[in-house]
Amino acid sequence: MTRHSRRSPATPRALRIALPIVATLSIIAPLAWLWQDSRVPSAYSVMNMGYPDYGVGAMPDPGVSGPGGHMQGQMGGHHMAPTPRLVTDMIADPAQPADVRVDLVTRQQKLSIGGRSIPGFTVNGTSPGPEIRARQGQLIEVHLHNESVADGVTLHWHGVDVPNAMDGVAGVTQDAVPVGGEFTYRFVANQAGTYWYHSHQVSNPQVAGGLLGSLVVLPQSGIAQQVDVAAVAHTYGGMRTINGKVGDLRVPARAGQRVRVRVTNTDNGPMKIWTGGSYRLLATDGTDVHNPTEVTGRSVTITAGGRADVEVKVPNDGTAVTVQLSKATAVIIGAPGSDAPPVPTQPSQELDLLSYGSPAPLGFDPAHPTRRFDYRIGRRPGFVKGRPGVWWSINGRLFPHVPMYVVREGDVVVVHIKNRSGEVHPMHLHGHHEVVLARNGVAATGSPWWVDSLNVLPGETYDIAFVADNPGIWMDHCHNLKHAAQGMIAHLMYEGFDTPYRIAGPSDNQPE
Ligand code: C2O
Ligand code: CU
Repeated sequence: MTRHSRRSPATPRALRIALPIVATLSIIAPLAWLWQDSRVPSAYSVMNMGYPDYGVGAMPDPGVSGPGGHMQGQMGGHHMAPTPRLVTDMIADPAQPADVRVDLVTRQQKLSIGGRSIPGFTVNGTSPGPEIRARQGQLIEVHLHNESVADGVTLHWHGVDVPNAMDGVAGVTQDAVPVGGEFTYRFVANQAGTYWYHSHQVSNPQVAGGLLGSLVVLPQSGIAQQVDVAAVAHTYGGMRTINGKVGDLRVPARAGQRVRVRVTNTDNGPMKIWTGGSYRLLATDGTDVHNPTEVTGRSVTITAGGRADVEVKVPNDGTAVTVQLSKATAVIIGAPGSDAPPVPTQPSQELDLLSYGSPAPLGFDPAHPTRRFDYRIGRRPGFVKGRPGVWWSINGRLFPHVPMYVVREGDVVVVHIKNRSGEVHPMHLHGHHEVVLARNGVAATGSPWWVDSLNVLPGETYDIAFVADNPGIWMDHCHNLKHAAQGMIAHLMYEGFDTPYRIAGPSDNQPE
């Protein structure tokens, strides 16, 4: 019998019918399984998402059962308390009175931007919402009232290492606040610097629509600059703005004054900033640079969600000084009415924070980590939330089968990030600041480069380190919020923690 005779008329009719069916099934059945496997239940705990990753270097821990499946609420080995700690227990001292009290009312409404009316969100009637200012050590109390945001809202304090219950992640640290609902956030502003707040419920459209604002914490001793201005960069419906207005932001200042410009990038992609003359980069992501030197002819990259504090000096010749926030908008600082200087051309070179400033003690030893994790970002075909596509993968897996990085309080954690996905990702860990140890294997030599939001370009690797000093369950995700909504989300959890909240469920919690 020759091979092709199988398909000859001599082949039994039944087989001719069955073979294509079997072939089709053998393709469809695994696809159906993958599809089914990618769907998420109508209510589920973040504890059941993905699989526990204890990292390398952790002490063997025979008694511990990981998060996932039926194990929720029963984590814990012989060395641990028998009952899990709850994220809701992690709060600021209730006996400590508030120093700064703010009422914030969120609304879903039309915004008027650059003469156009676009759908969006406001906080106390504007977008951005009011700037919150506090002094280091003060307890901030924010009373949120959701007047009309139909999907519900939360407030996340981006870059502030708040107690876990105050982190504002819908379905993980609280329920989304429905229309008519309220929530009170209380936390001590322990670290001086530039931060921002935004909704972490349906966050991709809500942040894009302007449900955000600036948070500035001043050091006890004050700052050395005579003028201090926050510039929130945001793109509304394709229009680039600073503090909600299209066009340049004029800041009055006198000749010779030093000015601190606190730039926050609230968009999904990185932005570059540069100045006409020289500048110093005083801080990144709310942490001071050690010995920042004068820079000329270089831009600073601010990743999505990131902040940069730059210092410029108003010239003595009566002209103004310009800080460009991308090509489209600028902060122009000088005497009122002074001529806007010509737009400085964008430098071709970037300031490299790996070598900027000078070294200083970190306060811990990253050379001897107690845990090491991989966060490998890739892209592969499959199903996410039941939809076929080519999706972001973390360590080779697709949402919801993403890692739950498990640490113990006191761990010195090193994370190796590798971006093989072909696109840039602004990686953001909640509740902690991380120091960059190396990029593409090249060790950092400048000031400690502390980040909460890190721009990871295609092909790059980063080694970063942090101390596990803020117990709870924390998101560790891409701050291109479109990517997050596509499943680019992992979590960091401390052993023995649990949450009473559910993703989806009756409050329809959708953190992305
Ligand atoms: Cu700026 Cu998970 O957030
Ligand atoms: Cu991303």
